[in-house]
Amino acid sequence: MKLIVGNWKMNGLAADSCERAEKLAAAVKPANSINFHMILCPPMPMLGIVEGLLKGSALFLGGQDCHSQQSGAFTGDTSAQMLKDIGCSYVIVGHSERRQLHGETSETVLAKAKAAHQAGLTAIICIGETDDERTAGKAEEIVSDQLRKSVPETAAYDNTVIAYEPVWAIGTGKTASNDDIGRMHGFIRKRAGKLRLLYGGSVKSSNAKEILHIPDVDGVLVGGASLKADEFLAIAEASAER
Ligand code: PGA
Repeated sequence: MKLIVGNWKMNGLAADSCERAEKLAAAVKPANSINFHMILCPPMPMLGIVEGLLKGSALFLGGQDCHSQQSGAFTGDTSAQMLKDIGCSYVIVGHSERRQLHGETSETVLAKAKAAHQAGLTAIICIGETDDERTAGKAEEIVSDQLRKSVPETAAYDNTVIAYEPVWAIGTGKTASNDDIGRMHGFIRKRAGKLRLLYGGSVKSSNAKEILHIPDVDGVLVGGASLKADEFLAIAEASAER
């Protein structure tokens, strides 16, 4: 079963979020013998209303980030326990936008992943090199360092997913080549064992099929193309195409 994760980032007001969630919930029903596992990660204020629309569907809900503590004086933050309480099963941690724009280090990401596990959530831990790091021939070194420092020792198939997202491919329309994806996923597989591995970075319906069929790609993390229900569904359906 491929994991198809939609990261809506900071996009859409309540009306858009509801319309998108309703369309997806109507299409992704347990009875439709679907062979993918779809997870929606709306912006934090939309989680509650989206959750209410997923009943009876086969969709899962996830947060885009969480704090490393479960409660306390952390104005503006959201704990993993809160996400769990309102119906989330997953949370993305260490997205490159958090690492770059909020100064999150791999140590911060590790603490967040541990908090997610403690709350009973599956952590989707993001890793990936920048353009400069790749040009300098350091992609594998960076990825291996992030893996070592961001993934808790207790990580297991049921509570952790790794998302490889080369930073230069995010929101740019540039996708890593199939060879690059295959090589890096093989590299990560050797270190991450059985954990499920997602690829992310400009995934869309036109390239989803080939990406989803690369060995060691267990699913995709989709930003821009997850904002249109039809496009996102087409990506999910590509996982079943031969
Ligand atoms: P993108 O974003 O699909 O818009 O490139 C992916 C992500 O940031 O998770």
